[in-house]
Amino acid sequence: MTNARTPLIAGNWKMNGSAAAATELARGVAAGAGDVSAELLVCPPAVLIPTVAAVLGAGVALGGQDCHAAESGAHTGDVSAEMLADAGCAYVIVGHSERRTDHGETSELVCAKAEAAHRAGLRAVICIGETDAERDSGKTLDVISSQLAGSTPAASDAANTVIAYEPVWAIGTGRTPTNDEVQEVHAHIRAVIKSSHGDAVAAGVRLLYGGSMKPENATGLLALGDVDGGLIGGASLQAADFLAIAASCP
Ligand code: 13P
Repeated sequence: MTNARTPLIAGNWKMNGSAAAATELARGVAAGAGDVSAELLVCPPAVLIPTVAAVLGAGVALGGQDCHAAESGAHTGDVSAEMLADAGCAYVIVGHSERRTDHGETSELVCAKAEAAHRAGLRAVICIGETDAERDSGKTLDVISSQLAGSTPAASDAANTVIAYEPVWAIGTGRTPTNDEVQEVHAHIRAVIKSSHGDAVAAGVRLLYGGSMKPENATGLLALGDVDGGLIGGASLQAADFLAIAASCP
């Protein structure tokens, strides 16, 4: 990275853990947080957020994995952005490809969720990414442009929004794009944001890469000019691996 954007290393724990396991993992991350200069964020399953909040300390931010667009009401099984904020969260992931696929979430809905995050004072981590079929047919940049335009609120800025590029085919597969391919997409994302939100937002917004990021490949990915951190799934479930990725930030 050749800029003033503080790297963000975010752990998406997905649907993993128990109160005991989450406590141990959160303690491990918190214990190492002082040794890395990157900002750290962990996103536990909703039911474990209070457990993690109780042991995390101030050096690691807490986030949700999803939120409803509404503030409250008759939405069985959902959690609002306000509830996440009340539970100690500073961030929420919206539009993860597993939500888009498992729950049919459209970019329009993702945008409404990001607006809800902003309403509640949370930073939205908006996820976008192409499938392998889309990449194979040369549509990656078109898909990215359209997901970005549809999912990013007009009021997004560098403080309230983070964009995570997660190629669907790289998630949990051990496969990643080449570093050049990642940089190409990230530079494209920044250019699209520049035309939609202006120079200052484009220059300041953090763009995370996600998809099979591990200690072994993190150094190369995090050194790319338009990569400002990572959104990590599997490797965020081991404190040592998560911290090793964070320590790889330039
Ligand atoms: P993996 O790191 O397990 O590939 O998951 C990436 C991801 O989906 C993070 O949101």
